[in-house]
Amino acid sequence: MRVLFVCLGNICRSPTAEGVLRHKLLQAGLAEQVEVASAGTSDWHVGKPPDARSQRAALARGYDLSAQRGQQARREDFARYDLILAMDQSNLRNLNALQPTGAKAELDLFLRRYEGAVDEVPDPYYDGDQGFEQVLDLIEQACDRLVIELKGRL
Ligand code: 4NP
Repeated sequence: MRVLFVCLGNICRSPTAEGVLRHKLLQAGLAEQVEVASAGTSDWHVGKPPDARSQRAALARGYDLSAQRGQQARREDFARYDLILAMDQSNLRNLNALQPTGAKAELDLFLRRYEGAVDEVPDPYYDGDQGFEQVLDLIEQACDRLVIELKGRL
């Protein structure tokens, strides 16, 4: 199974989701069976490490994002990944436009599928520290449910 998380810049939300899911897969003994990656709809931060505020907030909860580097989502991703999960509606619209017809990947809004109460992970880029904590709270809850789905699908 291959899972790709997508946000706008690939320096805040989707790298956080990548780090959280990878950690939870390790804990569940599924790390070898699921490949996790992240990308941005923009090319603004290609090659860059995650935002220092995202790294700091994630590390405080045990997730090390330091090895990740920004990349842009591509049409080919729809053939490589089984599940492509967008952080907000705008990301989803951009991915819909990129998606080739008949593509293998299932495309969805991450929280609509796994969280419930809220359906977008708010962009924390222009926020204070509280925004980054909220991103982590939402992503941790949704990743717990995603791991259950992945277990069932493997
Ligand atoms: P992300 O957050 O989409 O969660 O990575 C953002 C990062 C950078 C920018 C916007 C959102 N930016 O405008 O550069």
